[in-house]
Amino acid sequence: MSKIADLAQKIHELNHAYYYGEATVPDEEYDALVSQLRDLEAQSAGPFADASPLLQLVSSQQEAFPSRRHATPMLSLGNLYSEQELLEWDESLRKPLGASVLSYTCELKIDGLAISLLYEQGRLATAVTRGDGTEGDEVTANLRTIPELPLVLPDPLDLEVRGEVFLGKDAFEKLNQRRAAQNEPLFRNPRNAAAGTLRTLDTSEVSRRRLGVFVYACVSGIEAPRHSDALDRLVELGFPVNPERRGTSSISDALEYCRKWGPRQSELPYAVDGVVLKVDDYRTQRQLGVTAKSPRWAAAYKFSTEQAESRLRGIELGVGRTGVITPIALVEPVELNGTMVGRATLHNFEQVRSLGLHLGDLVTLEKGGEIIPKIVSVDAAARHPSALPILPPETCPACDGPVSHEAGEVEWLCTNPDCPDQVCERILHFCSRRALDVETLGPALVVQLLERRLVKTPADLFRLDVPTLSELERMGEKSAENVVSGLEQAKHCRLAALLHGLGIPNVGEKTARLLARRFGTLQSLRTVQAEPLLAIDEIGPVIAESVASFFADPRQQALLEDLLAVGVSPQEEVAPKADNPHFSGKIVVLTGALSEARDVWKQRLEEAGANITSAVSKKTDLVLAGENAGSKLEKANRFGIRVIDEATAQSWLNL
Ligand code: IVH
Repeated sequence: MSKIADLAQKIHELNHAYYYGEATVPDEEYDALVSQLRDLEAQSAGPFADASPLLQLVSSQQEAFPSRRHATPMLSLGNLYSEQELLEWDESLRKPLGASVLSYTCELKIDGLAISLLYEQGRLATAVTRGDGTEGDEVTANLRTIPELPLVLPDPLDLEVRGEVFLGKDAFEKLNQRRAAQNEPLFRNPRNAAAGTLRTLDTSEVSRRRLGVFVYACVSGIEAPRHSDALDRLVELGFPVNPERRGTSSISDALEYCRKWGPRQSELPYAVDGVVLKVDDYRTQRQLGVTAKSPRWAAAYKFSTEQAESRLRGIELGVGRTGVITPIALVEPVELNGTMVGRATLHNFEQVRSLGLHLGDLVTLEKGGEIIPKIVSVDAAARHPSALPILPPETCPACDGPVSHEAGEVEWLCTNPDCPDQVCERILHFCSRRALDVETLGPALVVQLLERRLVKTPADLFRLDVPTLSELERMGEKSAENVVSGLEQAKHCRLAALLHGLGIPNVGEKTARLLARRFGTLQSLRTVQAEPLLAIDEIGPVIAESVASFFADPRQQALLEDLLAVGVSPQEEVAPKADNPHFSGKIVVLTGALSEARDVWKQRLEEAGANITSAVSKKTDLVLAGENAGSKLEKANRFGIRVIDEATAQSWLNL
């Protein structure tokens, strides 16, 4: 391959890895590669220009979107609204086939817009929206702004793939915040925002909004016996295919998948509105055929989003550990999805403003995957003329202290660091599972401790003794002993857990781990300045400033002093890179079903010095394969890469 092609391929791969949350090289290195390619392209104007990843970074003003006919019509899917309908659908397929069981691929139904992508000789040629199913708009330039979409494939294939273009939840929030600040109308949901973005003519604006895409089918160009094989091949070619897909060997497994994702959809960083079930075997698909509108071999199982109407009775205000004041709607109890609900989430006062909420309003509640329902609309016409609008508080509901709000921000903040609600939330966070993990210290106990002034800061917790605790309500001697021994154990927590528990602004768990690894001890972090922090690749100026000012704050210094005085002595973190002879510096790929969450394995291996990547390539050193590993395992075997199972990995890590 020429130097240009090499560089282009490398940048495509990095974009892809980045998209899966696996930045494999520092930003500076990435930028250097991009500018190298830019220079080479400028000199040559060579054959790579149309497939260059740089096209994803340039802007252009388009005139309009020309119409294009689909070679194969873009159908839609029949919907299944209940488990009963799902079972009946399976039966209706099995009967004519005389099959006792069918294998399905289950995929999340991404709530975006369908797109058809044509590759000619391995290069992205056109991207066309669904339109009326027969003819859509060509939006190629807008699709090119999606960094994870390959513009050039490793093989020169003629291919048509289809997928869903969407806007992630974060990108959607950011876009709406920006629009609110500019007094532009807000998008109702990520789907509408994605639709609006696809119709935007200015590609630099499109690029800024950060569309995403998941490819879910191959219409032509790949020979495979089953849909799941085709998807695996698409992954090998560098396409973003949703990682949550699952092969099931019967409808009961498929049902289990639907049951799992219904309540968990809110955990995903993008909106989904159901599960798509596809008969896996292509030959069986052909036997079943299609109707005028939809294929018989696939269906969409819709998550229920039941709605109910109620009246807004009031607003409850919560104050978080960082001082953010969050409104919660109190409504007349109504039944929704089989349970009575009396509260609904309102994310912030910006949402209250955009809904135009007034006291006593008739509101529509909806329960998607979330536990607490949300208010989706307000009937302004049914409002009493003298109804009072809901406004942000002028003082903190917990401490009556001053409230601040920056123009353009969605948050209203209590600025009093001694606010009792903030203190309570900070202590709960300090004890939470992912911080010091003191299970026995729940909200009811912490509230009592604060009310009786037994505790003011997290350090005070370690001064509690069994006699004092046994005096409290609902506390026997046994529970008191459990609390004290839980705290005793927590004194020897990991440094990363302590840093996370301290609640340093802008420092999540990952950054806490990074800091712990880089600095090793609390002592060396206590005097840290922004500069050495900035020297760490993954840390930008915002985090650096935040960490440095946290440790420079005399209040925090006093807290740390006090924590050390009461015996908190976090374990020193050893630099892991040279630590584990099996994993240190190795490029490792995880595949198949592992008995523990992938994140757990990922973190563990990273701490042992491994670099985790998503695709198997010749550079891969090791593949950790669980049950039912598919194409990645095959590829590893083909390349002669060492494959290990979980038990081996555990023994290598001395687990
Ligand atoms: S397969 C014949 N798989 O849902 C249609 N569709 O009406 C085959 N969608 O707008 C579609 N996620 O774009 C399929 N994993 C997925 C999907 C998916 C979202 C969309 C599709 C279409 C609608 C179905």
